[in-house]
Amino acid sequence: MKQIIVLATRNKGKTREIRELLKGFPIDIKNLDDFGPIPEVIEDGETFDDNAYKKASFTAKILGYPAMADDSGLCVEALDGAPGVYSARYAGKNATDADNVNKMLDELQGKENRNAAFKCVISIAVPTGAALTYEGECKGVITKEAFGDNGFGYDPLFFYPELNKTFAQLTIQEKGRVSHRGKALKEIADEIDKIIEWIDIIMPKFQPAEYKEDKS
Ligand code: IMP
Repeated sequence: MKQIIVLATRNKGKTREIRELLKGFPIDIKNLDDFGPIPEVIEDGETFDDNAYKKASFTAKILGYPAMADDSGLCVEALDGAPGVYSARYAGKNATDADNVNKMLDELQGKENRNAAFKCVISIAVPTGAALTYEGECKGVITKEAFGDNGFGYDPLFFYPELNKTFAQLTIQEKGRVSHRGKALKEIADEIDKIIEWIDIIMPKFQPAEYKEDKS
């Protein structure tokens, strides 16, 4: 039987990439949309690490399954590492990808240094709170206008020099080979057997209380 792991996200772009990169392994990847309404986790950590662990452990505790969470974002040199953990809400609480892209272009107007890095931390947690952590990083350059229609988030602005394209001009497979998330998932894929064994050992096994037969 396949091990169920719940992805602690409703982000369709992330779910698609993670499912694609972990296909073929004996795991059944669900996401939050496969369950009924559940409380939202508050992402108030100061690092990708904090937020990834918060999302994974909260989801595992609430649903009783092992959970995997990705916390990721774009760190731009000329903005002192911003938006970083605030990447999803850079242009405001309910910002769309287009709002964030436009704000980034505005903030970098006239700036010479356009170096940036996507960072990703993936946490795999079980309901007791025990967790494993994986990381990945990818360096690139922020373009002066958007190019490409694939991917999500800041992909149309993230130029990857080695392939001479933005992430939004790559296929999901091409992006997965070089991206921050792809690198973290490669580490997971490389030790998936050990991870499944770890989950099996560490998942709480519920033993109902014994009772005496009523002989009256
Ligand atoms: P999170 O859900 O808090 O991890 O938000 C991550 C945010 O960072 C996303 O909403 C995107 O704006 C951005 N981001 C993370 N990974 C990527 C990527 O692979 N491509 C483009 N944008 C990304």
